[in-house]
Amino acid sequence: MKILVVGRGGREHALCEKIASSPLVDKVFVAPGNPGMRSVAITVPYLEDDQQGLVRFARQHNLDLVVIGPEKPLVDGLADRFLEEGIPVFGPSPRAAQIEGSKSFAKALMAKYGIPTADYREFTAYTEARSYLEQSPVPIVIKADGLAAGKGVVVAHTKRQAQESLEEMLQGKKFGEASSKVIIEECLQGEEFSLMALVQGELVVPLDVAQDHKRALDGNQGPNTGGMGAYSPVPQIPSGVVEQAIAEILEPTAKALVLEGRPFTGVLYAGLMLTSEGPKVIEFNARFGDPETQVLLPRLESDLVAAMLAVLAGERPKLKWSSQGMVGVVVASKGYPGPVQGGVLLPSFRFEGGSVSVYYSGVAEKEEGLVSAGGRVYLAGCLGDNLREAQQKVYDFLCQYDQPEFFYRRDIGQACLDSAAVQSGSDQEEPR
Ligand code: AMP
Ligand code: GLY
Repeated sequence: MKILVVGRGGREHALCEKIASSPLVDKVFVAPGNPGMRSVAITVPYLEDDQQGLVRFARQHNLDLVVIGPEKPLVDGLADRFLEEGIPVFGPSPRAAQIEGSKSFAKALMAKYGIPTADYREFTAYTEARSYLEQSPVPIVIKADGLAAGKGVVVAHTKRQAQESLEEMLQGKKFGEASSKVIIEECLQGEEFSLMALVQGELVVPLDVAQDHKRALDGNQGPNTGGMGAYSPVPQIPSGVVEQAIAEILEPTAKALVLEGRPFTGVLYAGLMLTSEGPKVIEFNARFGDPETQVLLPRLESDLVAAMLAVLAGERPKLKWSSQGMVGVVVASKGYPGPVQGGVLLPSFRFEGGSVSVYYSGVAEKEEGLVSAGGRVYLAGCLGDNLREAQQKVYDFLCQYDQPEFFYRRDIGQACLDSAAVQSGSDQEEPR
């Protein structure tokens, strides 16, 4: 089979690696990809928004499957362009992708179908939103309605911060059209986790659980980012809670989308909070999570391509997960999620022992080698017999390559290890 992956980040690097390992696959193309992925895929120079170019390429090469990584081309309708040509796609139609493309759509769907989420109001008029904020307690959450690369959410801890964010979004149009409507929602408390599923209509095949670290700095400080690291599995989320989230959130959402005439195909991602009232939805995405995918796929022992094809055919594949844990740490350019400088030469990594993976995201190629070209530059991940071992290994690896132009969080996976130590009351899972 010949498969095309659309996108250029660490998620697509991990997807290409996993797809290339399938015995069903002869060739993996990635458009546009990045020069760090060439060991696992052939990069082809079509941008994610070049619908015509991508479809022409798919037709010329008789592709058997297209997997679309990022949200923007999904919301813009790329999946439909391939389907019109009879090319199978793992990714939703733009109507179904609205579950990510419009938070207002997602919230209304959840309200209509009784899917647990934070209480909310939505506003386009600044004065109304402002007076609502005045009478609401803090902390409170303010979200741009549309796509904002994971940066359109502010958890405000003071009234002043809430007012300022509102002003920036609604009046200052901080995210352009995406913030011409805002959602103001109740701040949920609890442990966050990410639960994704392969979905086709009402068929929901859950993946294992992962946890992202959205804040830029250690101890969950600093601004929200696209994700600074992740780990999987998440042992402090009981399996009963995962079952509950599948039965009360993922399955009813897939069904709701069918009932609304927007059947979903692809990966449905639920960002969840385990509150005292059970799991509630923080957000839905219409695609694989980044960086969750980089720590989930290396733990998937089953063939991902066979699984995607089965789901497209309406069959339920059985997914087998390694009992090993994986911890992935994002290395970012200083200044991220604000503006950054690129052009920093990356180290030549030495991979000894085989348990380390590096997935590249914001990189470009120069004569002397790969250089940074974006906020998040790469993710280093390690498998270990348990999460503590995986964490130890990944930081032992990374500290050999510290560069003053980059930073990374030192506490990826720590919340899990701390809670395991507290629960067991033993020193078996000592924090590092
Ligand atoms: P989102 O882009 O919607 O996932 O939001 C980014 C981050 O903001 C989430 O991962 C949460 O940590 C936080 N967040 C979003 N909504 C809420 C909420 N209602 N209550 C508490 N935290 C939230
Ligand atoms: N890790 C969060 C996201 O993919 O949006």
